[in-house]
Amino acid sequence: MIGNAVRLVGPVALTMGVPAAARMEDIEGAKAKIVALMEKSAEQRGDGSSIGPTLVRLAWHSAGTYSKKDKSGGSEGGRMKYEPEASWGANAGLAAARFEMEKIAAESELSRADAYTLSGVVAIEEMGGPVVPWRSGRSDAPDGSTSPPDGRLPNADMGTPKNTVQHLRDIFHRMGFTDREIVALSGAHALGRCHEDASGYWGPWTYAETTFSNEYFRLLLEEAWTLKTTHQGKPWTGPDQFETPDGALMMLPSDMALLWDKKFRDVVVEYAKDEDLFFKEFSTAFAKLLELGCTFKTPKTGIFGLGFFGL
Ligand code: HEM
Repeated sequence: MIGNAVRLVGPVALTMGVPAAARMEDIEGAKAKIVALMEKSAEQRGDGSSIGPTLVRLAWHSAGTYSKKDKSGGSEGGRMKYEPEASWGANAGLAAARFEMEKIAAESELSRADAYTLSGVVAIEEMGGPVVPWRSGRSDAPDGSTSPPDGRLPNADMGTPKNTVQHLRDIFHRMGFTDREIVALSGAHALGRCHEDASGYWGPWTYAETTFSNEYFRLLLEEAWTLKTTHQGKPWTGPDQFETPDGALMMLPSDMALLWDKKFRDVVVEYAKDEDLFFKEFSTAFAKLLELGCTFKTPKTGIFGLGFFGL
């Protein structure tokens, strides 16, 4: 399904001498391997899921540690391979995806940091989402000594609606995102699911967990969400989460925060009505996320290799 539309920005001859920059053919090779990995995992699982959503989460967690205050964190360095980031509670469940991307990075002569981020971009497009501008040029840190402190990635619940809403603002404003971008990025929860052995939460957000769409926003508005009390006939003992009346779908408190806050909710309504608008704004916000803290030598705009790149 993946087309040639992923906007790859190869450094090619323009940045010769920049060590972490990748050649266009290597990027194309990595892209094909990521698609093949997703297809193989879908086939092996045979339950409508694939590794695709986890790749999106990997890309996001590799970048979402950025702080604009001291410019630390971000996808540069690919430090999640090492301690302490590898063992952060927030990164539970990402080891297998990380391992696959490290393999592809080595085979394709890409930096690990580039592979972590490219995996999310390719997975989103492969699952029917928007093209996300992406370029190579991240370098790999030799260890985790430059990792930022733990606690940079969001918690799903801060105990009260007010605190959870404020937490989302604290975390994403720290990266340099607006309220509108917080809602756009949260729409990635159209994909994938929560795993009890990773986060303690359970279940998917939508009925089509490998299709990128605005369903997350529509379901948020239209379903009657209540606190989960039972799971498959037994009392639910996990953390507080919300569910549909039949228990098939879930929302985290941090998802519900987008309904609880009027400013967030207005954007949820816009995206639920207009998928094109969501795709456009998600693409811009996700591209921005993946470049936070990166100091690329490649120009920000121009025509390179396969497509036009203009952030
Ligand atoms: C707003 C704050 C956010 C919180 C609190 C949050 C929390 C979580 C949690 C608890 C999980 C379940 C992990 C597991 O059990 O395997 C999850 C999964 C996921 N998250 Fe988020 N997330 C947030 C934002 C984002 C953003 C910004 C993106 C991407 C742009 C994203 C993409 C995903 C995806 C695709 C999955 C599914 C992974 C899978 O199926 O393996 N999340 N998130």
